[in-house]
Amino acid sequence: MEFIKAYWEQQGSAHQSSHLASWGDRYAIELEIETISRFIKGGDRVLDIGCANGFSTFRQHEINRAARYTGVDYANSMIEHPQRSLLEKRLPPDEIRFEVASILALPFSDAAFDVAYTTRVLINLPTWEDQQRAILESLRVVRPSGTLVISEGFWEPLCLLNSLRLLFRLEPLVEHDFNRYLKKAKLEAWLRELNMAFEVEEFSSFIISEVASCVSSFRRRSGLGAIIRTQLTSFSTRLSSNTPEAGRACNKRM
Ligand SMILES: C[S@@+](CC[C@H](N)C(=O)[O-])C[C@H]1O[C@@H](n2cnc3c(N)ncnc32)[C@H](O)[C@@H]1O
Repeated sequence: MEFIKAYWEQQGSAHQSSHLASWGDRYAIELEIETISRFIKGGDRVLDIGCANGFSTFRQHEINRAARYTGVDYANSMIEHPQRSLLEKRLPPDEIRFEVASILALPFSDAAFDVAYTTRVLINLPTWEDQQRAILESLRVVRPSGTLVISEGFWEPLCLLNSLRLLFRLEPLVEHDFNRYLKKAKLEAWLRELNMAFEVEEFSSFIISEVASCVSSFRRRSGLGAIIRTQLTSFSTRLSSNTPEAGRACNKRM
């Protein structure tokens, strides 16, 4: 786990306030921001878990200033930048604030937030058991009937994308060496076991410009434009935490 944290510390130092600290695909990041913003209402207390340098947290704040935002990340170097920006922008701390914390031990009381979200954070945890612990810890801090949005890398859409790449004789994409993509089917089965209400929303990104350009030339030649819609790279799962007891019971079993 230490070398993963060291990687993110180095990303925070190297990229400061740029979106590159977390990911190069600006288009997909905007898609995530837009998707998640739909779950935030005025007055909501919102927690961005694994917020990196706060790039997305600040964007959510711009979109909906009537909500209150807290961003946490376990890398000190990531959190230094938004804390400095807060002072420069003179934003009031009751509107938006940042602190260092791990998703596995969030320093907040039960039900402290209306909405919490992770974007590409759980995939940094080395095992499915750690990912389950992180989800339960995130649910703990969301109020009953609140919302947890999980927007992560998933295995099944990656397989689908690689099938598409194979059609164009492109090399398959692989996870970053320390990432553990979630298995959509496994997550859904576990959530059902917990008796947790959830919705799945899939969204696409033309993250791989090579594929996008191949698809468009394919379209020009054959007119099979619909194939683009099968290129899923990511999906978000929205959990409604109306059964926190179920989460706690499962926590004990693990
Ligand atoms: C791929 S970046 C995503 C950042 C941000 N959520 C976004 O959408 O731009 C992953 C972030 O998760 C953070 N992270 C990884 N493991 C974590 C943990 N156990 N607790 C808190 N943050 C973690 C990393 O430091 C990094 O900033």
